[in-house]
Amino acid sequence: MAAWPVSRMLRRALRPSVRSCSSGAPVAQHRPGEELSQGPRQFLREHAAPFSAFLTDSFGRQHSYLRISLTERCNLRCQYCMPEEGVSLTPKADLLTTEEILTLARLFVKEGIDKIRLTGGEPLIRPDVVDIVARLHQLEGLRTIGITTNGINLARLLPQLQKSGLSAINISLDTLVPAKFEFIARRKGDQMQRRAGDIPTRAYAAGELWLVLGFHKVMEGIHKAIELGYCPVKVNCVVMRGLNDDELLDFVALTKGLPLDVRFIEYMPFDGNKWNFKKMVSYKEMLDTLWQQWPELKKLPGEESSTAKTFRVPGFQGQVSFITSMSDHFCGTCNRLRITADGNLKVCLFGSSEVSLRDHLRAGASEEELLRIIGAAVGRKKRQHAGMFSISQMKNRPMILIGG
Ligand code: 5AD
Ligand code: SF4
Repeated sequence: MAAWPVSRMLRRALRPSVRSCSSGAPVAQHRPGEELSQGPRQFLREHAAPFSAFLTDSFGRQHSYLRISLTERCNLRCQYCMPEEGVSLTPKADLLTTEEILTLARLFVKEGIDKIRLTGGEPLIRPDVVDIVARLHQLEGLRTIGITTNGINLARLLPQLQKSGLSAINISLDTLVPAKFEFIARRKGDQMQRRAGDIPTRAYAAGELWLVLGFHKVMEGIHKAIELGYCPVKVNCVVMRGLNDDELLDFVALTKGLPLDVRFIEYMPFDGNKWNFKKMVSYKEMLDTLWQQWPELKKLPGEESSTAKTFRVPGFQGQVSFITSMSDHFCGTCNRLRITADGNLKVCLFGSSEVSLRDHLRAGASEEELLRIIGAAVGRKKRQHAGMFSISQMKNRPMILIGG
C-alpha cells in the first residue's frame, strides 16, 4: 500500500515549518512559502491521506526521519562511543554499497520519510559522501539532509557538501579544553607541515611542524558551518561526571556570540562504554547549574517530535538544549528509524532487535516485499525503552556501530 504522491504532498505541506534562527542568518532547510494560511491548512487537514501504514507503528507513531550510517569506521575513539580495544569491523562485502543505500533511501522517502541524517562511525570519512548527499538531494519529498560528524574533516568538505544539498549539521564536541579533547577522543594531535592557510592561531608551533589538536580542527569546522550560513549549528556534548561536567557554563557562554545550539546529552549506556549511573549527569542537575549562573534562562517552545528541550539566555545569539534520553525519555513521540552500515533496520536505538534489509535486497526482494519486511519491523517497535538500568544490562551494539 504505497502512499500516492498527491497525498504525500498534502501531508508534507501540513507538517510544521522548520525552526527559525535567532541570528537572522540564512536557515538552510527553509523552503520559502512553506507557511500556509488557515484556509488552505484546514482544507489540507481534511483531505490529506493517512501516513504510510508501513512506517506507522502499533502506537500510532509515524516515522518520517531516517538515520543512515555510512561507515563503521571513525578517525576518533571516543570513550563513550566505543570500547578501548576497538570494535570488530564488518567485512567490506557485507556493508551497504552506495547503490544499496540509495535504493533504500528512495524507498523510504517514497513512503514518507522527509528527513535523512547521515551518521557513522564518522560519515565524512566515506570517500563518496559528497556524491551520496547530492544523489539524496534529488529525491523528491526529502526536505532535510543532515549529518552528524565529529568535525575533524568538516571545514574541508563543507563547501562541497553544502553545494550538494546538505541542510543541517550536528558536530560532536565534548570539551573546550584541547588536551582533554585528545583524552576523551583517545587521539593524539597530528603533526602537520606548516603552510599558508593552515589552522592558525592556537596550534602549537614546533619549528616548521605544528601539532594540530583535533579540538582546533573541530572548532574550525564549527566556524566554517557558521560562515556558510548553517543556523543553528548544533554542537553535541555528551556530559560525563568528573570528565566535562565542569564545563557546562563555558559551553553556554559560547552561545552568547555564536548562533550555536549546544546540546547537552545525557550519557547513555552502550556495549563496551563502561556506563554507570554515577557518571551520568541528569538534565535537572545540569539545568540547576545553569540557572545559578543565568537565572533568566528561558525555555523555548519545541516541536512535538523534538528530542530536545531548548533554552536560551535572553540576548544570546545561540541556544542550549538537553537530550534527556535517560532521565526523561521521549519515546512517545519518537519518529526515527535507523539503518546500520551493514544494512540492518533498527527501529529503536536501545533495542537489540534488527532486521537485515541488505540480505533481502541482495536476495532480489521486490519493493512490496521490502515494504512488508520494514512494516513488520516497525510494527514490532516497543512503546518505550526499558529504562536506563535495564538498557545498561541489555545486549546492544557499541554506539559506533549503530550510528547515533
Ligand atoms: N551517550 C550519549 N550520546 C552518545 N553519542 C555517542 N555515544 C553516546 C553515549 N554513550 C552521540 C554523541 C555523538 C554522536 C555521534 O552520538 O552525541 O555526538
Ligand atoms: Fe567517532 Fe563519533 Fe564515536 Fe567519537 S562519538 S568515536 S567521533 S563515532
